[in-house]
Amino acid sequence: MLKPFYLGQSAAHRRLVELAESARAHNLRELFDQDAGRLQRMSGSLNGLYMDWSKHLVNDDVMQALFALAEEANWAEGVRDLYAGELINQTENRAVLHMALRGETEDGFALDGEDVMGEVLATRAAFGAYADAVRSNAQIKDVVNIGIGGSDLGPLMVTKALRSRSKGGPRVHFVSNVDGAHLESVLDGLAPDSTLFIVVSKTFTTQETMANADAAKAWIEASSLPVYDHFAAVSTNLPAAVGFGVKAENVFGFRDWVGGRYSLWGPVGLSIACSVGSSAFSELLAGARAMDRHFVEAGARENLPLISALLGVWYREYLGFSTHVVLPYAQDLDRFPAYLQQADMESNGKCIGRDGQPVDHHTGPVVWGEAGTNGQHAFYQLLHQGTDIHPADIIAVEAPLSAYSEHHTKLLANAIAQAEALMCGRNESEVREEMKVTGQPQSAIDAIAPHRVFQGNRPSTFILLDELSPKNVGQLIALYEHRIFIQGLLWNVCSYDQWGVELGKVLAKNILTEWSEEGDKQLHDESTQHLIQRLKR
Ligand code: F6P
Repeated sequence: MLKPFYLGQSAAHRRLVELAESARAHNLRELFDQDAGRLQRMSGSLNGLYMDWSKHLVNDDVMQALFALAEEANWAEGVRDLYAGELINQTENRAVLHMALRGETEDGFALDGEDVMGEVLATRAAFGAYADAVRSNAQIKDVVNIGIGGSDLGPLMVTKALRSRSKGGPRVHFVSNVDGAHLESVLDGLAPDSTLFIVVSKTFTTQETMANADAAKAWIEASSLPVYDHFAAVSTNLPAAVGFGVKAENVFGFRDWVGGRYSLWGPVGLSIACSVGSSAFSELLAGARAMDRHFVEAGARENLPLISALLGVWYREYLGFSTHVVLPYAQDLDRFPAYLQQADMESNGKCIGRDGQPVDHHTGPVVWGEAGTNGQHAFYQLLHQGTDIHPADIIAVEAPLSAYSEHHTKLLANAIAQAEALMCGRNESEVREEMKVTGQPQSAIDAIAPHRVFQGNRPSTFILLDELSPKNVGQLIALYEHRIFIQGLLWNVCSYDQWGVELGKVLAKNILTEWSEEGDKQLHDESTQHLIQRLKR
């Protein structure tokens, strides 16, 4: 179990509160001008992943206080507890060992003194072999992953990210929503005899997934095809998957110490492996494992996930910025923000501390974003000139992502330009001068200049991958997973449960039951009751 940490009582917290006062007056351009070594000190890389955090509203005093905060929270001990298989998911009495899914024998992951790697490696070999067999089976043209939340977002995001490695594999589709339009739109154009469904559900009880799996099964049966030839499953609930009609040897299991939103590294990643093959899938795991080692071994001042986490805490708690925007300048990473929303917000969107008491500080921010440059033509107006500041992560890839190499130069130029614009802005005298040079009349300059001012001083991290390889995608995801761990530690929340998703599920079940009953029971508030009655009719 992780010990509670009372942020508000720490000495570093008091120092950070003080520093936050003056930080509001920091000017990033000036911080660079005054400090020739800033970029060098505030950047680092790991195996092809470069991170530049120099454009943040921090100076050395702030960084020092943030590191002191991490020390007071005993971050290194927390990491040791995590890796040692302690029951840090305390409300579910479970360990959190998804790192084992990308581990090797020598990493020695164990639970209650018992090695887990033997089973992990056997499962990895089994689902890898299955994926490779699917890839070499000319009969299977389409693979449909049916799952939701962690059983969808991670595999979907990575499958898209590794598009360039998918040649020779089947087309891989994802169905998650209980809106039948999702399944219908995917099945439209697929042939039952060449389609394989992978039902992915940790519990094998999730309403949306079971509704879609049942409908897919009916679709196969309607063509008089045997269900067991067209279904595989991934679950911790083997009996339910077999009961559904999947052959036991095609059900790939995992343990309850893998949270849904951290599960893509194991058999939940089967659809990724079907798309890119087991060898590329192993590269993905190796990348994540490299970040794991870095997280455990690097000192605080070089530790990329730790630094990323601390910057997030600085903004959320001390400068009052309530969102974190993630902007991948790579179309193939366009589902990364959606993936991260679950990973981060389901983990740290909590208000009760590890001691069972309400926390007296902020916790996880709203995470949002969109691929660049699309977002530039949508919400960047607000990023640059809105009244709130939204710290950004800009993620770019050095190697071209398509054969259109000139597109790539434009894409990269935009990524860099946005980080520059956010930081440097453009002041009124620069605007006025520019308008004057283009010959605009004084009246127009006076009227328009204020609207064209960019305050700047808006922070961003720039993450540059040398290529969008499986290894780098693995590193990138693990970087954020560990960021989430550290933030949860400092915010004193239980990052690995998700009680907040339960109530809606229960109420939906109740409403469904009432839907099928005669008459209208008055069980709800007036508004809810009206909606049910209106739709029932
Ligand atoms: O409703 C949230 C959730 O429990 C997620 O945490 C999980 O990833 C998702 O539902 C799907 O659950 P399962 O894999 O059990 O179908």
